[in-house]
Formats: sequence, C-alpha cells, structure tokens
Amino acid sequence: KKKIAVMTSGGDSPGMNAAVRAVVRTGIHFGCDVFAVYEGYEGLLKGGNYLRKMEWEDVRGWLSEGGTLIGTARCMEFKERWGRKQAAGNLISQGIDALIVCGGDGSLTGADLFRHEWPSLVEELVKDGKFTKEQVEPYKNLTMVGLVGSIDNDMAGTDSTIGAYSALERICEMVDYIDETAKSHSRAFVVEVMGRHCGWLALMAGIATGADYIFIPERAVPHGKWQDELKEVCQRHRNKGRRNNTVIVAEGALDDLLNPVTTEDVKNVLVDLGLDTKVTILGHVQRGGTAVAHDRWLATLQGVDSVKAVLEMTPSTPSPLIGILENKIIRKPLVESVEATKSVATAIANKDFDAAISKRDTEFIE
Ligand code: F6P
Repeated sequence: KKKIAVMTSGGDSPGMNAAVRAVVRTGIHFGCDVFAVYEGYEGLLKGGNYLRKMEWEDVRGWLSEGGTLIGTARCMEFKERWGRKQAAGNLISQGIDALIVCGGDGSLTGADLFRHEWPSLVEELVKDGKFTKEQVEPYKNLTMVGLVGSIDNDMAGTDSTIGAYSALERICEMVDYIDETAKSHSRAFVVEVMGRHCGWLALMAGIATGADYIFIPERAVPHGKWQDELKEVCQRHRNKGRRNNTVIVAEGALDDLLNPVTTEDVKNVLVDLGLDTKVTILGHVQRGGTAVAHDRWLATLQGVDSVKAVLEMTPSTPSPLIGILENKIIRKPLVESVEATKSVATAIANKDFDAAISKRDTEFIE
C-alpha cells in the first residue's frame, strides 16, 4: 500500500486545511494510507506521534477552517543536512516515501532538495546502522509534490497561490471599514499590507478599494520625487470632492534607489499637505479567518491532483508544482517556478523594474 505524507509549511494561509482534506480523501479513494505531518518540518524531524495516519472522517469540516489545523513552523534544523537525514529516517520508519508539501517557495525548495538528497541520506542511515539494506530497499526514492500555500501570491508560474484571495478579501473588508471612519473625519489613512517582497496584495487591494495611491516593490517610485506626486494626486482627488484619502503601502515597498518606503514616510508627506493622517498596519488579521470560495476550490482541485501526480510519477520525473494557469490546474517543474520567482527579486535588486513587472506575470501593473 502506497503511503503518502502531507504537511503544511511556512506561514499559514487560508485554504491549507482544504488542501490537506483533499489529499487525505483522494489518497484514501485511491487505496493509499495518508499521514499528516504535524508542525511542518519540525514534525518531520521529531517523527513518532508527529506523523499521524488520517482517516476520512478526521478531515470532516476542514474546508471552512482558517489557518492550518496540522500546524506549521519555520524550521531551521531542516536547512541542515543532519536534520534532513533525521527526517528521512522518520519517514522510512513509517514506510512513507511520498511527500506532499503545501507552503511557500522556501518550503518547496527545501522539499525538492530533500528529494534529491534522499538516496544518499538513505545510504548514510544504513551506514549509521539505523536500518539494514533490506529494510530500506523499497524506499530508494522519495516522491515529492508541491502545492503553493501563501497569502503573498509571489510564486511565478501559477496565477494564484492558496490563501491569496482570502487575504485580499480581508484587506478589502478592513479598508472599507477604515474608509467609513476616514470619510467621517475627512482624514487620510496609510494602510500597510503584507506580501513580503511581492506587491500583489497591495496592488489588488488598491484597485478593489479605489485607493488614491499604491506603493509596491515591483513599480518602485522615483527617489525624492514621489512625495510631490503623492501630494498632487491626493490634492486632486480632494478638489474633486473626495472626503478621505487611502494610500496602500506594501510591506516590501521601495523607491527606485531601493530604499524602503515606510508608512511613516508616507504619513509625513500627507501631514505636510495639511491632512489629518493616521497609519494602520493590518498585520496578521490578513492571514486569519476562513478561506474564501476561490481558495477552497483551488486547494481542493490541487490537492486531488497532487495525489494523482504522486501515483503517476517515476523517479526521473522532476518534482512538480501544482499550479493554476488560465483556469486550468497544471503541473510544472517546481525548480522552474522557483527560479522564475528568484529572477523577479534579482531584477528588483538590479533596479530593472520593467523586467520585475514582466517576470511577475501581472502585466496590468503598468
Ligand atoms: O509569507 C506570508 C507572510 O504573511 C508575509 O506576507 C509576511 O511578511 C510574513 O509571512 C510574516 O511572517 P510571520 O508570520 O512569521 O511574522
């Protein structure tokens, strides 16, 4: 019987539970045993009770639960070879040689490295006397499949990551609330949103709420000049009768000399314009709460496909990332998407913002 482990890793995101539910139930449907790894890579290192066999009813009701019910962690030990060796030993002890990871690009890169190292890790475990050659014989290769779970929507090669639309919905709801009090007092609000080095959440939220101005890393504002433009735009909107101003700042926002643009910088400019200005940093409310319908079905369809991929893969198949492109669930080599994602960061570091935008696949940023 094929044994598959599923885990969530990195920052939690709404829809991760739907993904785990889909993996568990699809695995059972195809006659596999499915294990949940609790607490992400930390659980993989600890083994034992952190790897629990899941039954159909164990994931009942998980579609509508926020966060990740099997826990997650940012684990430093898994970055070390000894940590990955320990993790391999724990999987073999339970007879598991397939791993489905739902996480961000860092978590998925770690998983791909684990897969590549697996044969040599197994050899070392035999040398160390942890297993006999006969015991490891059926577990020569690890099958690994990646699902992208992140609110940031920062992975190249897929149109949306599991959790991004839920976070976007939450941000819009919060900005709508803020707008009401802002209008009452004729105030300006500077709202900081998450996204790490990616401006997708800020851009989409800005469009969806009709913000006056948006700061994102991929379209860096001109150093020393953006202040005047911001003032001009906000004043123009006021002149047209707008009673409030909303400026959305991505947490990774930069100017074109790569200096961070902070909410305080932006606030000072608006105060200088004579506006009564407040700052709201939305923080982790953006990650909490139940998944919106988009993330539930995305996670479900991708979870189903991840099990199919495990069953269809051969040792020479590159680890796939399950994505969505033009409304179709697709598989593509994980390393390609990770490389393409890194190339956006490189373009920004080289101040080549046009390249950053085209590599981000969000053409309408222009
Ligand atoms: O990657 C998801 C994310 O929420 C980012 O948007 C943010 O920068 C980061 O995680 C926050 O991490 P933590 O929850 O560990 O503070």
